[in-house]
Amino acid sequence: MTLSTETLAGLVRPDSVHKSVYTDPRIFELEMQRIYGQAWIYVGHESQVPATGDYHTTRIGDQDVLMVRAADGQVHVLYNRCPHKGAQVVAEGDGCAGKFFRCPYHAWTFKLDGTHLAAPMKKGFEGTCYDPAHPDFSMRRLARVESYRGFVFASQAADGPDLKAFLGGVATSIDNLCDRSPVGEVEVTGGVFRVLQESNWKVFYENLHDTMHARVTHESSVVAAREEAKEIGEMPFELLIMDGNGEPYEFWEKLELRAYPNGHGYMEGIFDPAAATRDPVSRAHFEALSQVHGEERARAILGMNRHNTVIYGSGSPHTVFQQFRVIRPLAVNRTMVEIQVFRLKGAPEQVFDRALTYANVINSPSSNVMPDDVEVYRRCQEGNGTRGGEWVSLHRYLGTDKALDEGWVSTNGTSELPMRNQFAAWRDYMLAEGSAAQAGAKNEEKNHAAA
Ligand SMILES: [Fe+2]
Repeated sequence: MTLSTETLAGLVRPDSVHKSVYTDPRIFELEMQRIYGQAWIYVGHESQVPATGDYHTTRIGDQDVLMVRAADGQVHVLYNRCPHKGAQVVAEGDGCAGKFFRCPYHAWTFKLDGTHLAAPMKKGFEGTCYDPAHPDFSMRRLARVESYRGFVFASQAADGPDLKAFLGGVATSIDNLCDRSPVGEVEVTGGVFRVLQESNWKVFYENLHDTMHARVTHESSVVAAREEAKEIGEMPFELLIMDGNGEPYEFWEKLELRAYPNGHGYMEGIFDPAAATRDPVSRAHFEALSQVHGEERARAILGMNRHNTVIYGSGSPHTVFQQFRVIRPLAVNRTMVEIQVFRLKGAPEQVFDRALTYANVINSPSSNVMPDDVEVYRRCQEGNGTRGGEWVSLHRYLGTDKALDEGWVSTNGTSELPMRNQFAAWRDYMLAEGSAAQAGAKNEEKNHAAA
């Protein structure tokens, strides 16, 4: 049974969403076409492919892709498929292809931008349509690739807004992450963590700005942190960041939630000038930034008190502790989260150490905090699979959100504005004229026309 436009339109109400958006494999399949086939999706950071031939494999929705650095320094994003028999050209992971890609099956070779280089025993193609110059014999490039301050995104749709316009109000989160480096540049270092979640991908996005869950879901790690602090007579950084989830509701109410088109948004506390000088690591960081920008600008950069940012479809950068949780949907009930940690080029090494500690304590598979969330996501998946009800509530502070020039802002930090905004974008994607299947066909025509 196919899903009609009416059915899809009826799944999202202003105050609730139908549970099938989390459980119906047909909806997941459509999302792969209409959201992941359309939107700009984060592929990786340029620092993951520093030298010519370096590649990094990942997924855009249900598509295996790779990011590669060509000899001219340009970064390309290709589907990981040899045009001969369709084999994946490189295995999953990071590596260096050298000067060109070579398929492990029959040794067809491709330049680093994907174009056909050679196939063995060419005389066998004589009198056929084999044409090295025709795109059908090359590794296919994604329709569009753009980098924003080193963060590489790709879109499978030939048409649409450019990356900067797509990011809108959340581009400032990437800016702040980079500006924390005295030279304005960051790099992914120290490998990545991966966490496999047995739940739908959208639940994670909702949770990122779900301030009402923190003191409940994370009660066990908050209590453990407080007991340990009492025992040792101090609250070191490792415990402090666990303790943070235990703030009373009044704390969360004071946060500001911003919501932007395309499902994006962020959560921010009031500007915190003391952040620059709070502890020895911050002071060293402040010093390094001040030398380049002067104290006022350094204080402005470090005082921006932004918590999780949502780039809908891609994941969540965290500017203060330099993480990017990349969210990759695998199936309707399975999601892979990859945690990247960034080193701020030119900043004191302790700043990177602190980011690693944050990743270990809060985001890693062995974290004391993340498993709390992973467990409740799984429970949502299980519960929504029962006949116990049809709708998921998004009622909190509905009707109180204030419109901005571009987007919305909450009047109360516990508002479910971010979820409502995400599902408004979801609905727009899912109802959009011209599914990605059609867009894909169109791209193919364009590629041919360009060839
Ligand atoms: Fe949580």
